[in-house]
Amino acid sequence: MGVSDITDHLAEAIEGFYNALGHTHRPIELHPPYFSKTEAQAVTETLASGWVAMGGPMVKAFEQVIADYVGSKHAVATVNATAALHLSLLVSGVQAGDLVITQSNTFIAPVNAIRYCGAEPIFVDVENQSLGLCSEALTEFLASQTSCRDGVCYHNDTQRPIRALLPVHVLGHPVKMSALRGLAETHHLQLIEDAAEALGSAIMCDGHMMRCGRWGDLGVISFNANKIITTGAGGMVLTDDDRVAEQVRHLASIAKTGSGEHGQFDAVGYNYGMPNLNAAIGLAQWQKFEEIGATKQALAMHYQEALAAVPDVRFVTGHPDHFSNAWINAVVFEAPDIAKQVLNDLRAQGFMARALWEPLHQSVVYQDCLQGPLPNTEYLASRTLQLPSGIGWGYQTSS
Ligand SMILES: Cc1ncc(COP(=O)(O)O)c(C=O)c1O
Repeated sequence: MGVSDITDHLAEAIEGFYNALGHTHRPIELHPPYFSKTEAQAVTETLASGWVAMGGPMVKAFEQVIADYVGSKHAVATVNATAALHLSLLVSGVQAGDLVITQSNTFIAPVNAIRYCGAEPIFVDVENQSLGLCSEALTEFLASQTSCRDGVCYHNDTQRPIRALLPVHVLGHPVKMSALRGLAETHHLQLIEDAAEALGSAIMCDGHMMRCGRWGDLGVISFNANKIITTGAGGMVLTDDDRVAEQVRHLASIAKTGSGEHGQFDAVGYNYGMPNLNAAIGLAQWQKFEEIGATKQALAMHYQEALAAVPDVRFVTGHPDHFSNAWINAVVFEAPDIAKQVLNDLRAQGFMARALWEPLHQSVVYQDCLQGPLPNTEYLASRTLQLPSGIGWGYQTSS
């Protein structure tokens, strides 16, 4: 099958689903938000209440619905998930000079958050199936390049402490959290789960599905405009630990202790709390979460079936005993030049597919960082395309 035939199959698959959904305009973007009168009304009411800044009743209510849904004891809403990751690393004790193990195949935010702490990432390879951190590669890395003393894991060559493990559920596909949790425990690493893209994804645990975001010591969700539901910009830290939750909340609200005439502060805090206005949008979006989730599952199924007969194209499904929220659907091609050609052709037709991110170990910012062998990371980066996966197209007045 030639490249143009592959493009035709993909274009037909995209077109078929979106036309049936009533979206006949072009271009079809990768993942636009889905808004209707519900969000407009929530914004109007919140403006009328006068409480638009952080700490309002909408924030509390939004934290509660997400904590209940994910199954975590505490949720702290933040301005975005990058801030949530920064706080999670800080309260995990990550300091200047420390190392944090993560993956190169990710949106840059978690790695930037490591740098905000003055720490450095170590990149370990990802698995082909889920695109996320590979537990086998991590096992090998820990065995060959680290040693533990007095409850601290050290990187052998640099003798720097490795304080935390930060895996990412890429495009919504869960990584093998049970295995990673075991490795984090035996190597004294704080486990911070980047579930920014994975609200609704879950992993089988002792006979039941446990949602992404509650596997680590801390979990992080994003409500950025391109996520499965959005607050415009927003994030959340999830944890079961009372003390950690309190620390996160305190740091997110500028570490303020005083009240009344004199504000007092007991640490270098951050203005990272989610504004009430954004939380109001989040609560309105939450009403659509089930509908969005079901439509996204239908889209993923549609792509999978439509592409099953196309040779040399693998539709990314993640692990069979994991549940993916199907945030962004992706395909992996046999060869990088096919991926490039198909991408150009799809975009020329108004289907805004995208390549995966540039691997961070090859970026100008992080090219000098420590790393293990990264064959899967490099293989996937040059061959993977993200396909249009939103189910909205801006503000829909009909709903
Ligand atoms: C894996 C991952 N982590 C973190 C973030 C940061 O989220 P935010 O944009 O809410 O800061 C994103 C993207 O938005 C992401 O995709």
